[in-house]
Amino acid sequence: MSVVFDKINNIFLLETDKSTYQMRINEIGILEHLYYGAKVYKSDMSYLIIDCDRGFSGNPYELKDHRGISMDTRPNEYSVAGIGDYRVNALSVVNVDGSRSIDLRYKKHCIIEGKYRLKGLPYVRENGSKVQTLVITLEDRLLGIEVELYYGVFEDKDIITRSVVISNKNSGTVKLQKIASACLDFSYGQYDIIHFYGRHCMERMVERIPVTNNIQVVASGRGMSSHHHNPFVILCDKSANEDTGAAYGVMLMYSGNHRTEIEMDQTGGVRIVTGINNEKFEWNLGVNEKFYAPETILSFSEDGLNGLSQNYHRILRENVCDPKYQKIKRPILINNWEATYFDFDKTKLLTLAKEAKQLGIEMLVLDDGWFGKRNDDNRGLGDWVVNEEKLGGTLSNLVDEINKIGLKFGLWIEPEMVNEDSDLYRKHPEWALREPEREPIVSRNQLVLDMSREDVVEYLFECLDKVIKSANIEYIKWDFNRSVSNVFSNYHNLEKQGEISHRFVLGTYELMDRLLKANPKIMIEGCAGGGGRYDAGILFYSTQIWCSDDTDAIERIKIQKGTSYGYPVSTMGSHVSASPNHQTMRTTPLHTRGVVAMSGTFGYELDIAKLSNAEKEEIKSQIADFHKYYWLIQNGKYYRLTDEHTEAYYTAWEFVDESQKEVLLNLVVTHVQANGKYPFVKLKGLNPDSMYVEESSGKKYTGIALMKGGYSFGIIQGDYPAMQLHFVVE
Ligand code: GLA
Repeated sequence: MSVVFDKINNIFLLETDKSTYQMRINEIGILEHLYYGAKVYKSDMSYLIIDCDRGFSGNPYELKDHRGISMDTRPNEYSVAGIGDYRVNALSVVNVDGSRSIDLRYKKHCIIEGKYRLKGLPYVRENGSKVQTLVITLEDRLLGIEVELYYGVFEDKDIITRSVVISNKNSGTVKLQKIASACLDFSYGQYDIIHFYGRHCMERMVERIPVTNNIQVVASGRGMSSHHHNPFVILCDKSANEDTGAAYGVMLMYSGNHRTEIEMDQTGGVRIVTGINNEKFEWNLGVNEKFYAPETILSFSEDGLNGLSQNYHRILRENVCDPKYQKIKRPILINNWEATYFDFDKTKLLTLAKEAKQLGIEMLVLDDGWFGKRNDDNRGLGDWVVNEEKLGGTLSNLVDEINKIGLKFGLWIEPEMVNEDSDLYRKHPEWALREPEREPIVSRNQLVLDMSREDVVEYLFECLDKVIKSANIEYIKWDFNRSVSNVFSNYHNLEKQGEISHRFVLGTYELMDRLLKANPKIMIEGCAGGGGRYDAGILFYSTQIWCSDDTDAIERIKIQKGTSYGYPVSTMGSHVSASPNHQTMRTTPLHTRGVVAMSGTFGYELDIAKLSNAEKEEIKSQIADFHKYYWLIQNGKYYRLTDEHTEAYYTAWEFVDESQKEVLLNLVVTHVQANGKYPFVKLKGLNPDSMYVEESSGKKYTGIALMKGGYSFGIIQGDYPAMQLHFVVE
């Protein structure tokens, strides 16, 4: 049993294989957080709460004679605004009578076998896992507001999901000004935060900073999870490193405006609150209506950051992404974007397809420019009608010819966007988000469609479904190439304008869901100018995400490494592109580009007709290698082996299969040195007693030797050289 209620002490005990989570109902019915961390079995952790009369920390009325008991100092499981907890809150409302306090007390709970789901939102799937759900209902009797706290306990995955559903049983509308998905209190400890910041072409850089006496915020108001701040934050012990130490992950499963606040309070406790960004958010909760807050995926590991990452890799691969892709091999593709940009026609595409087929590539993805009058990025978005003139016939003709060559076919779309210069905008200017009197901000010369409108979602479904069904399309690259601004919907009344950003996200999820259900054989690759919408919410619908518009292998090492803290390699769209690279103009060896792209979904994005015969032969052998290592890379355990602060001139990483019989060790020298140190790594996760044979040299090493003594590569020279070594147990 992973969820137990101890009736005598009023304690909820949530247990996974390696972690414990505890809450209690306190003396006046308030739900308090007792503990989250390494497994403490049935120990009652309530002794950790020590009450002491702290100046200016008020007391609940029923306990006014116990001046030590305060909402302001006790760890609250779901903190609320207005009743004396002055730390960052999870819930803030404006009541029917204009008052702004809410006081939630325990009403009931239930324990359910299996995993709950959330209406209209992505969720962590049960998919055969050992999972139980705990639902605790809290209520404010005066206001008639009920809050259900959901906990999904994935016992064998060391994951606890949380979500919140709020219902209004009052006689009038209640305004939600903030409704977070989770709140976590730590009364003791010294912590660091690791968060993932970035920009277009350099997403998910790693920053580790101490939790200090302030409120730190990781947030996006860009209408998408964003290149700028990812909705994933790690809180870890100061001493935690890749392999040891306590680390907590807080991952919001949401693709819109998000906000995670980390506060150190007046007595040194730390609180994390995560959820939809409350800035410019307001939701009118009508009588008998419910609001569903997106899910948060929590994990704890005592095995440092690698351990935490592996927990997330597993749950995302097995329970968030469509599980069928764990068993179905995804095709190696060629995307025509960096090969042709907008300048293509049927002949060019067929030539690319024929060349690709000869090298062993399995799918051609036709990127931007196949529809409307879209021959550059200033026009055409919204007109999802095939440009038959450019394609030299129907899409179906083209796809048939590509299929005959022996390749599958994929297509690029960008549904949520519209250009002013499009038939759609000329017909429906009111379908774009914009304030009535103000000129909107344009970005890449495009506006954003109002996905909160049912008619917009319906239009997009109908025309995209028609295009998908018109030909043998097996893959969709779903793009989103600007941040959202001028959030105003002509469709909804004035009171609802604070709801639009969230309704927009719900509209996108609905469209993705409908298109997938209507076309079960398509696989979606998410994209937002590269990795601007890289989050667990989108991964529910799209099995992989184009990791970054920066395809430079050396930059990609940092981007993919940063991404790996939260997200598995199997989700990282990664291609071999041309050298010199189009974003950085850097020249790198084809081998290095292959090694880096293989630590992802793998594909090509360059004009292969321009390559020499030797390069084509090399691509054939890269493809053969990728097939050989496919399951090891996609489903194996991933380990970061180097730290750029200590090993500044090379980066190494490794895959180990579950049975520890096969290892793929990768290394790229990023700053070559004259007469320098040997690149050296200690391998991880091997069976100490097994004998591993390195395939290219036939040399043998025990697992313990590779882990304790390490492996030295000797001198490696040249521009950005890479090594890829395959070890198998003899
Ligand atoms: C975005 C994507 C690119 C490409 C272009 C097309 O930038 O990230 O890969 O699809 O759009 O316009």
